[in-house]
Amino acid sequence: MAEIAKVDPAKQRQKPTAEAPARTHGQYPRTRMRRNRQDDWNRRLVAENTLSVDDLIWPLFVHDRDEAVAVPSMPDVSRLSIAGVVEAAQQAAELGIPVVAVFPAIDPDLKNAEGDEATNPNNIVCQAVRAVASAVPEIGVMCDVALDPFTSHGHDGLIRNDYVVNDETVAVLCQQALIQAQAGCQIISPSDMMDGRIGAIRDCLDENGFEDVRIMAYSAKYASAFYGPFRDAVGSGKYLGKADKKTYQMNPANSDEAMREIALDIAEGADMVMVKPGMPYLDIVRRVKQEFGVPTFAYQVSGEYAMLSGAAERGWMDGERVMMESLLSFKRAGADGILTYFAAKAAKLLRGA
Ligand code: PBG
Repeated sequence: MAEIAKVDPAKQRQKPTAEAPARTHGQYPRTRMRRNRQDDWNRRLVAENTLSVDDLIWPLFVHDRDEAVAVPSMPDVSRLSIAGVVEAAQQAAELGIPVVAVFPAIDPDLKNAEGDEATNPNNIVCQAVRAVASAVPEIGVMCDVALDPFTSHGHDGLIRNDYVVNDETVAVLCQQALIQAQAGCQIISPSDMMDGRIGAIRDCLDENGFEDVRIMAYSAKYASAFYGPFRDAVGSGKYLGKADKKTYQMNPANSDEAMREIALDIAEGADMVMVKPGMPYLDIVRRVKQEFGVPTFAYQVSGEYAMLSGAAERGWMDGERVMMESLLSFKRAGADGILTYFAAKAAKLLRGA
């Protein structure tokens, strides 16, 4: 029997020697990465990712007043009247933006510890949803499910013995989701981070004949300081004060935990999942898309918007370019879509308008 020669794999590999010619395949100067970057047409030809208007969701703030009021920490963003929200939705539809997300700034007199206004079928969110659904039926409308805009303490759930309780909160969230669906909301978006709420809301919607209403779960939502300007916009910040949401939102240190959250929400019936905030969490977006292959969204939150627009306003960066670059980065990370306060501005640029 012929002896099988033992092969040392290390020796098999061709090692470059001092005499090896410089012109080796795959190396400079034969390979010049800059060739494909010379011309605009060439750069477009080899682009791996593109941002489209179809990728954008535009968050809007509504309040119970007739005039728009600017949000100081978010340049060019205002709390709108219902008519203002309808007008914005019309503009969004004309630009081809698929979805607007409606967030309420509630009259402080209507806030209480139980967040009762959240389940009032005639609250400002439901009014705005009905108005958009009838005036702009071709656009998707999305609503948050969480109690923080409605509570006098600014938390997303009910408080018992100084703790945001889970199961009792989930029961209220189901009612909140139901009245939003009844108002015409097509995407219910729980942002509260209670356990089990996706399954409970899915059951509640199904039992009430809303089996086609979609759920986009804020699955991996971190306890982030980047939500500051949003809390100004909806007016929950001053009620929350120095308190934080660390007993329900995720620790920014964690990534595997986000995968468990995503897996649970998918199992409970989420149609789409979200990672939030966006830019500091693109590694999470990448993992979610890679590991689950489900419709994956990222929220470029208020603080990210404030950083970019604030710096642009001072002339410290080119606002349009950082906007487009930041939005493209979400696509590169694997996001199917982005919630962004830049949606209309970016759509105009993409449309060349
Ligand atoms: C409510 C909610 C928040 C955001 C979206 N829904 C704030 C929070 O959880 O405190 C943040 C959005 C943004 O910062 O743009 N639960």
